[in-house]
Amino acid sequence: MKEQIVSIILAAGKGTRMHSQTPKVLHKICGWEMIRYALQAAPRGEEAPVAVIGHGADLVRETLGGAARYAYQAEQKGTGHAVMVAREYLEGRGGYAVILAGDMPLLRRETLESLIEKVRSESAAAGVLTCMLENPAGYGRIVRSGAGLVQKIVEHRDANEAERAIREVNTSVYCFEIPALLGCLDRLTTANAQGEYYLTDCIGMLAGEGRRVTAMTCPAEEGMGVNDRVQLAKCAKIMQRRINEGHMLAGVQILDPDSTWISPEAAIEADAVIYPGNVIEGESFIGRNALLYPGNFIENARIGEGCKVGPNAHLRPRTVLGPNCRVGNFVELKNVTLDEGSKVSHLAYCGDGSIGKKCNISCGVIFSNYDGKHKFRTEIGDNVFVGCNANLVAPVQVQDGAYIAAGSTITQDVPAGALGIARSRQTNKEGWAQRRAERKE
Ligand code: UD1
Ligand code: CA
Repeated sequence: MKEQIVSIILAAGKGTRMHSQTPKVLHKICGWEMIRYALQAAPRGEEAPVAVIGHGADLVRETLGGAARYAYQAEQKGTGHAVMVAREYLEGRGGYAVILAGDMPLLRRETLESLIEKVRSESAAAGVLTCMLENPAGYGRIVRSGAGLVQKIVEHRDANEAERAIREVNTSVYCFEIPALLGCLDRLTTANAQGEYYLTDCIGMLAGEGRRVTAMTCPAEEGMGVNDRVQLAKCAKIMQRRINEGHMLAGVQILDPDSTWISPEAAIEADAVIYPGNVIEGESFIGRNALLYPGNFIENARIGEGCKVGPNAHLRPRTVLGPNCRVGNFVELKNVTLDEGSKVSHLAYCGDGSIGKKCNISCGVIFSNYDGKHKFRTEIGDNVFVGCNANLVAPVQVQDGAYIAAGSTITQDVPAGALGIARSRQTNKEGWAQRRAERKE
């Protein structure tokens, strides 16, 4: 039989302590739902990992789509029961089942791979990933034999005094030989303090039968589970540091890593410089030598090399800046492309459109893209100068080299090289102030 790896992610629990309508595993860390980290860490066989879902099942399914296979656990009767409902994905297979929880975002794939390797090389029936904790209260304790092998796992609530003194805890991450696991699932009972089917009992059963059960200890950080929002923030802080350090070691300058939040899927080239307070979400890209001044919010946007952005700009999805563009303070861009060397330097909104090369979009310009029902595009050629406080009412085109006079509301296309001016002519009433003062007397 070909050796296979089937990963199972336990994610059916409610997460009562989050006090949230959102299922626990969909709470986000650096912009990613926690379960995405589990999915990314889970070793892959030929087929996608299996997510055991229950609370908020539809939302979890929507989030992961085809990246996972699913088992539905209607009622949460314990971690052992959660694996039982995923049986169909294990039956008739050799190889190993890797079981992890959907609420452990800091677990690394390499750690899971080493666990599999340890079980394989020792010909063990199972391996448990453990952590050493100063305060192990609440966790299952790892009971080892004199020879150092795992004898059983005792849940905190079921443990005696001596067992509670053990500081090595179960992270709820395992690697089982699939046939050995299936043999145990049939025999689980609910004879324990919580009246649940404990997956941990499989460990005791295998050891009791004289099968080898091994353990691997990982840094406490990786074993951290998220049960409430305090732990969510703690894990997020650690993930933030991991991501930022990765970029810094690859040549990105981050002035204040503590106030800089970057999504795990953002790409940033070397020699980009990031000032404090930038938040970069989604699959954003930041090119070489780009300068992000303080306080920008960048969502699924691409910033070309040498661009200068901010302070306090908002780049919304599908914004694309070519090389050496300038986007200044209080500018909002959405679904718009700027070609090389163009500038939108202050207080502007440009949504749904394109701006050619070397254009100047002056202070206060607005792309009026929405009529209350539909969105329309504003298309601007190369070398166009749009004066201050102009409104471009889309759909509209401004061709190469055209100028738009300040304060204009442009509703018709402007041909190449023309001046578009659309505002009433100014009149000055001579002596008006004097006459007004006299009226008041
Ligand atoms: C479990 C372990 C414990 C370990 C701890 C680490 C058992 C019996 N105990 O305890 O030894 O120290 O994790 O955090 O396994 N889940 C389901 N369906 C269920 C029950 C749980 O999908 O019916 C999922 C939860 O959503 C969660 C994971 O399994 O992702 C762990 O469940 P949880 O209730 O947190 O287990 P603990 O009691 O903390
Ligand atoms: Ca838990």
